[in-house]
Amino acid sequence: MTDQNDEGDSSTADGLTASKSSSKKTKSKPTAAATTDTLDGNNTNSGAINQKLTDKSMRNLMKQMTVAEQTAASNNANASKYDEKSALKQEWKFWQTQPVSTIGAKIDTDNVGPIESNKSKDELQQESYKLPDGFSWDDVDVHVDEQLEELCTFLDDNYIEDDGNDFRLKYSMPFLRWALCVPGWLKKFHVGVRVTKSGKLVGFISAVPVRIRVYDKELPMVDINFLCVHKKLRLKRLSPVLIKEITRRGHFEGYFQAVYTAAPFLPGIASKCRYWHRVLNVKKALAVEFSYLGRNMTVQRMQKVHRLPETTQVAGFREMRDADIPQAWKLLTQYLTKFDLAPVFSLEEFEYLCKNRPTVVSAFVVENDQGEITDFISYYHLPSTIMNHPQYKILNSCYMYYYAASRTPLIDLVNDCLVQAHNSDFDVLNALDIMDNKEFMEKLKFGSGDGNIQYYLYNWKCPLIPAEKVAVVLQ
Ligand SMILES: CC(C)(COP(=O)(O)OP(=O)(O)OC[C@H]1O[C@@H](n2cnc3c(N)ncnc32)[C@H](O)[C@@H]1OP(=O)(O)O)[C@@H](O)C(=O)NCCC(=O)NCCS
Repeated sequence: MTDQNDEGDSSTADGLTASKSSSKKTKSKPTAAATTDTLDGNNTNSGAINQKLTDKSMRNLMKQMTVAEQTAASNNANASKYDEKSALKQEWKFWQTQPVSTIGAKIDTDNVGPIESNKSKDELQQESYKLPDGFSWDDVDVHVDEQLEELCTFLDDNYIEDDGNDFRLKYSMPFLRWALCVPGWLKKFHVGVRVTKSGKLVGFISAVPVRIRVYDKELPMVDINFLCVHKKLRLKRLSPVLIKEITRRGHFEGYFQAVYTAAPFLPGIASKCRYWHRVLNVKKALAVEFSYLGRNMTVQRMQKVHRLPETTQVAGFREMRDADIPQAWKLLTQYLTKFDLAPVFSLEEFEYLCKNRPTVVSAFVVENDQGEITDFISYYHLPSTIMNHPQYKILNSCYMYYYAASRTPLIDLVNDCLVQAHNSDFDVLNALDIMDNKEFMEKLKFGSGDGNIQYYLYNWKCPLIPAEKVAVVLQ
């Protein structure tokens, strides 16, 4: 390809298109300004469970914010946390009170370790953090379908959106249950906040256990995910309470470190990464403005460039079966050793996370002539709602998950994975620039997204980890 465009970071490797980063935790921003509106059934799509969040509870919440917190909230509203330079100057009213490294701090290898030491149970705060009047803690039981559905709807209406608010992540019930119930999961780590009177879910945060190796130190951590505050309750300092409460609960179970990802630049950065997008359905990606035509590009030409073979090309490439799992686990375990931020999976964890699950995970292997499994690759299914499009309602996206190639060139393995995703009607496959992904992304026509995504470590300081040394994939 010789065509070039000059769209800076938004251009693809071959200068063909630019893609919007609607993917998880790429450039999203808080969408609602502080407001004291009531919630009503017309504003949220929560159907029968949607009930009124009264003016009174909102007024109470505002009253309970201290002046300092309100100032911090308004500072936050004005500063761009998606820009590292602005983040350097930010006040961090909450995060400065937490054991996280400051933005821009240079940490050398001799100085790696916890920021605060572990506490015994009786040194910990015994009671849950106090919520503003009118709100109560309530763990979500994701094994009760109604509660899982309620959580799904809540995230559906309020979770991460892209920068232009055109796409919002849409977690399915099986996906959420899978992500929240990894081996060792605890119900008390699925923390909900409800309006006491109506029972309406207005806040959520979760933790799941994961063993993580940071450089040469292996640690029991929790992966913090699904932090979400109802749109009408934004910028009212509920997130710090949710974060402190999940931290407190983690401490009680012996977890003093956490890993998480977020689009904004916050204190505690361990690595800075970026999403790339491989468009599979060119027509739809253009129609919904997920992608744009680059200069000198036509729809037909873009379709031609993105065309994939109808069938997979690598001999022995097929869906992973249960019997392949021990060999695939060994391959992945070996592959992960070369990274500086990587999970350490037991066989049970690997099986749970990486086996084929309809609408959740697709996993493939390459089997050689001797019946050995030589390569493994997987992606997870996470569509986005397309807001405000007359024809298309869902962007059918999947995300590169764990892989390990021992014999097949990685580019060929990923190409077959793209063929599978395309044949399964996915519109786009997203991947971070972590692991060895940079090896294949440009060549396989991935385009760079328009926002960064950071990996964070709570209560652990270490030198910044280059993206290509990261091998933790969070959902
Ligand atoms: C992220 C979200 C919960 C933040 O809520 P908010 O109402 O904007 O912020 P609050 O007033 O509750 O809290 C503000 C504090 O939370 C911090 N914060 C904001 N977004 C954060 C994030 N994604 N992770 C951790 N902390 C965050 C702010 O920096 C601020 O702390 P500071 O005083 O140290 O600067 C909310 O915007 C939301 O639900 N967004 C959609 C879902 C989402 O993006 N979730 C995050 C996934 S990583």
